[in-house]
Amino acid sequence: MSGNGKVLIAPSILSADFSKLAEEIKSVEAAGADWIHVDVMDGHFVPNLTIGPVVVHWIRRATKMFLDVHLMITDPAEYIPQFAKYGADSITFHVEAAKNPKDIIAQIKAEGKKAGISVRPKTPVSSILPFLPLLDLVLVMTVEPGFGGQKFMADMLPKVAELKKAAAQANPKLKIEVDGGISADTAPLTVQAGAQVLVAGHSIFAQSDRSAAIQKIRASVDSIS
Ligand code: DX5
Ligand code: ZN
Repeated sequence: MSGNGKVLIAPSILSADFSKLAEEIKSVEAAGADWIHVDVMDGHFVPNLTIGPVVVHWIRRATKMFLDVHLMITDPAEYIPQFAKYGADSITFHVEAAKNPKDIIAQIKAEGKKAGISVRPKTPVSSILPFLPLLDLVLVMTVEPGFGGQKFMADMLPKVAELKKAAAQANPKLKIEVDGGISADTAPLTVQAGAQVLVAGHSIFAQSDRSAAIQKIRASVDSIS
């Protein structure tokens, strides 16, 4: 037992069929998902374009689930008010995109939302240590951000462990989230290292039986969480 508490599963809609998004979200909700992960990309911070606040607005109407919005954008401060207004529950921005992360965290909190910060694979944990006491979650990218369906980077596991250790001192309530290449094969490694929220796109939405897909991930971490 690593004592992480209940592990939460957050399907990433990036791998969903966008022509029937509400139905897709309801399918994972019925299948036992905990959160919905929403990947926002601006074609600048990452080489891909996805969705904006308007889509979050409609997702909010389709479900009461916790909406975990992951901003992979160059100017998070500019768009946080809209994502907050349209129904995000947590807003996570990238430390690499923030001149003053403390201000952005304060902005998210002032909107009444949970605040998260994310690190790309090449960004060290040391870059976010000063902010741990202010945050609700830290998202460790386990692939280069930008696309779903990539291979899990096992060399990110020490980062998760380092964060877990730092959080025990700085902020025991901090949730550690992993994102990229998470499946029943890789999830246990991340939970062992200290992850409590598992984002999974391809390993859930690319499967026709979402219940089986979520169950498989949950079963893989049950014995260690
Ligand atoms: C990648 C996104 C991820 C992505 C994960 O930039 O942040 O949330 O959807 O997809 P999988 O689980 O397919 O790697
Ligand atoms: Zn993401």
